[in-house]
Amino acid sequence: MLKSVTLGEFDAPNALIVGKFQDSDLDKSTAKLDANGAIAAAIARPEFTGASGSLVEAFIPTPTAKGADKPATGTVRVLVVGLGKAKAFKTGDLRSAIAPAARRLATTKDAKVQINLADALGSIDAKLDLRHAGRSAGEAFGLLSWDHLAFKGKGTDKKDRPAITVQAKGGQFAKGFETGLALADAANLCRTLSETPPNIATPAFMAEQARKLGKHLGLKVTVIEGKDLEKEKLVGLINVGKASENKPCMIRIEYRPDNAKKDAKPLVLIGKTMTYDTGGLSLKINNGMVGMKRDKDGGCAVLGAMHAIAATIKPKFPVVALLCAAENSISDEAYRPDDVLTYRNGVTVEITNTDAEGRLVLADGLCWACEKESPRAIVDLATLTGGVVVALGSTYCGMFCDDDKLRAAVNSAADSSGERVWQLPMHSEYRDLMKSPIADILNSNPNRKAHPIQGAAFLSYFVDGYTENKIPWCHLDIAGVHATESDSGPFVKGPTGWGVRLLADLVDQM
Ligand code: BES
Ligand code: MN
Ligand code: ZN
Repeated sequence: MLKSVTLGEFDAPNALIVGKFQDSDLDKSTAKLDANGAIAAAIARPEFTGASGSLVEAFIPTPTAKGADKPATGTVRVLVVGLGKAKAFKTGDLRSAIAPAARRLATTKDAKVQINLADALGSIDAKLDLRHAGRSAGEAFGLLSWDHLAFKGKGTDKKDRPAITVQAKGGQFAKGFETGLALADAANLCRTLSETPPNIATPAFMAEQARKLGKHLGLKVTVIEGKDLEKEKLVGLINVGKASENKPCMIRIEYRPDNAKKDAKPLVLIGKTMTYDTGGLSLKINNGMVGMKRDKDGGCAVLGAMHAIAATIKPKFPVVALLCAAENSISDEAYRPDDVLTYRNGVTVEITNTDAEGRLVLADGLCWACEKESPRAIVDLATLTGGVVVALGSTYCGMFCDDDKLRAAVNSAADSSGERVWQLPMHSEYRDLMKSPIADILNSNPNRKAHPIQGAAFLSYFVDGYTENKIPWCHLDIAGVHATESDSGPFVKGPTGWGVRLLADLVDQM
């Protein structure tokens, strides 16, 4: 939509964004601008309800700047955004409330935009978190600057996307807006990778992207591939990736602040990075395969989060990312149902379904994290099951976390980022569901009971000391939330970058 959004200063704006609550008058500074009554007339129109998401437009004469020797000429476009009922308002609502104004600006091409929501917001509650409000608005503008037509070619007349400069009123609001833009940048990196088709975005391509990010932001990047996968006994990656000519790898990205203590324990983020999921020999049928380029979105989110962490959040403790990257394909070399794999932690797995591949590669990441990284906590993100989409739709991500402290932190990060999570249960009976008659566990119980929970239960066998709660661990099944089927709020149809902003917030408050 937009090409870019930068914060800057200017004398007179081409467009001004103000807000109005459904149940209160225009704020004083906006009312003062409305000498010709155009704004009052606009908000009285029937199409403007004041509900969040409603928008109306008015034109006022450009105000003459203080000390100018001539009166100003021309008009300013005033976009009034509905903010809903004052009592129910939450600062995060701005992501959706301001999005229609940003979309409108993508077509009007006003280059200089002033935002004054601080006055309306301050008028309902002097203690309102203006910084978070600004951040939410900045996220909306940033997310709507994602280039969703990057893969259109000469066959399409692409319209120019306008670059806009934003001047935001209210010091805290403006500061927050800048953070919001930065977080959206990181989410947009994730979205671009998600969008990249599987003939381009192979595991090696993902490793290249990680190296690029590392170089840019001073992160250490190591890629474990080929013989090293064998040496490290990363059997999930080896087997799931066997059938494809695009060879699997584990990508390790490390953020370590300069003054970190030598023995400082990192937070470990693990991402399922299936660059394509055909289902393997348990081949996906009918249209089940379409869209499986996005089966790498857990890894894309983790990569985007590392961007936010290194560029914006800059925590005082280390963070390690592990992207388990493979393509689940078919050939005579493919792994098969009935194979048995022995993991590096000694757990044996009977393969019953090669389409339950994500958990097999994540298991490598979990073993590695527990054995090699002395993690203070582990969070994994994966488009793991269709079952979680059935259960929660695209409204909540499925969360599994037995550790009270980590769960509270994830819940609070979900609140501030607007990336909602809902806890699903774990119980030893679910772990028993995964027992195999011939190996320790199987990768999918054919009875199809509690599918998203089966995935989590499987993974728990690879978290060291799981039953004693030794390492705080959180599994996020993002299969329902990583993409959206239609334009909504600050998103266009396609990948949402889900998890980047939540992980950034999680790190920020840990
Ligand atoms: N990548 C899929 C899960 C998925 C489904 C993600 C729909 C996004 C949208 C995963 O690898 C998968 O195939 N899961 C199977 C597991 C089953 C075979 C045990 C599923 O959920 O059906
Ligand atoms: Mn699958
Ligand atoms: Zn998959």
